Amino acid sequence: MRVLVIGSGGREHALCRSLSLDPQVSELHCAPGNPGIGKVATLHPVDAVDPVEVAGLAGRLGVDLVVVGPEAPLVAGVADAVREAGIACFGPSREAAMIEGSKAFAKEVMRAADVPTARARVCVTPEEAAAALDEFGTPYVVKDDGLAAGKGVVVTGDRAEALEHARACGRVVIEEFLDGPEVSLFALCDGSTAVPLQPAQDFKRAYDGDEGPNTGGMGAYTPLPWAPEGLTEQVMREVVHPTIGELGRRGLPFQGVLFVGLALTSKGPKVIEFNARFGDPETQVLLDRLETPLGGLLMACATGELGLDPVFRDGSAVTVVVAAENYPESPVKGDVIKGLEPTPGAYVIHAGTARGDDGEIVSAGGRVLSVVGTGPDQESARRNAYELVSRIELRGSHYRTDIAR
Ligand code: AMP
Ligand code: GLY
Repeated sequence: MRVLVIGSGGREHALCRSLSLDPQVSELHCAPGNPGIGKVATLHPVDAVDPVEVAGLAGRLGVDLVVVGPEAPLVAGVADAVREAGIACFGPSREAAMIEGSKAFAKEVMRAADVPTARARVCVTPEEAAAALDEFGTPYVVKDDGLAAGKGVVVTGDRAEALEHARACGRVVIEEFLDGPEVSLFALCDGSTAVPLQPAQDFKRAYDGDEGPNTGGMGAYTPLPWAPEGLTEQVMREVVHPTIGELGRRGLPFQGVLFVGLALTSKGPKVIEFNARFGDPETQVLLDRLETPLGGLLMACATGELGLDPVFRDGSAVTVVVAAENYPESPVKGDVIKGLEPTPGAYVIHAGTARGDDGEIVSAGGRVLSVVGTGPDQESARRNAYELVSRIELRGSHYRTDIAR
């Protein structure tokens, strides 16, 4: 099987790493990729959000499967163009990806499918926003309706700040605050069937103790020893199957990964958000533990032939993100990175990296690296991850010291 992966972050490096270990995958390409991915796949330049360009590249390479990583190409219709070119694609259509692309659409689908989630109002005017804030009370939760790369949500006790975010976004979803630990559950979907990966947890705030601004994710681990028994089955039954069923009834079969962000509230799991793609950095730990060969699984999703549930290896995986100076506000780029060699039980996934003029690896994004540690239990996985993190040299970089503690 010849596979082309679209994207250039840590998630795509993790996808390519797993695909390169699948004996069924005979040829692996990535566009645009990064230097880490370049060690396991052939890289090609591409404008990832241009459907015609991506479908053209897939055709020229003669691949059997295209895997679309990030949300922006999905919402731009890249998967539609690839499928129209007669090539199997892992990733939902533009319209089905609106489950992530519009929070109002996601809420409407959940309401129709009777999926447990926070009560919410879609607001456009300042008067509507003010009324919704008063209806739900504090803490206020105000979400930009559209894609905002992790910066669209404000949770605050400050009414003026909540109103200002609503005004700045234009169209927002204002909702009830959900209390309880957060869990990410990913379901692979083939348009009619879905199978779960195991639960994972990510750390969204920039600094230790869940302080500081929201980020794309500063670390993750799997499995969750504390997760209630039967959680996966309950979420498949109450959330995933009703949601893909509802999308199917609307003529929007979902092929790809449905990312369910949950709060485990005292009244049971409730959906915080849907994404139409693998989460980053949860993917780095989940794929490390996935035993079922990835290429076959993704191809089965793309061709409507999903079968048995994926199997996971025993043991734990923990990933710690090394972020650039000034991330998430305005990350500093272009600094040389050293200390990237693997250590026992740990390895480096590249996210925001590039090649410098002299061939050295330099920082090129906010989340620069995602260091994965593994071990028989969470504590050893964590130790292995941090041991390698301590060897990395990148001027001004920062990371959380409390991932999976
Ligand atoms: P999202 O982009 O929807 O994942 O939101 C980012 C973060 O905001 C989530 O991971 C939660 O920590 C928080 N959040 C979003 N919605 C709610 C809610 N209804 N109640 C509490 N926290 C929320
Ligand atoms: N880790 C959360 C996300 O990918 O949005």
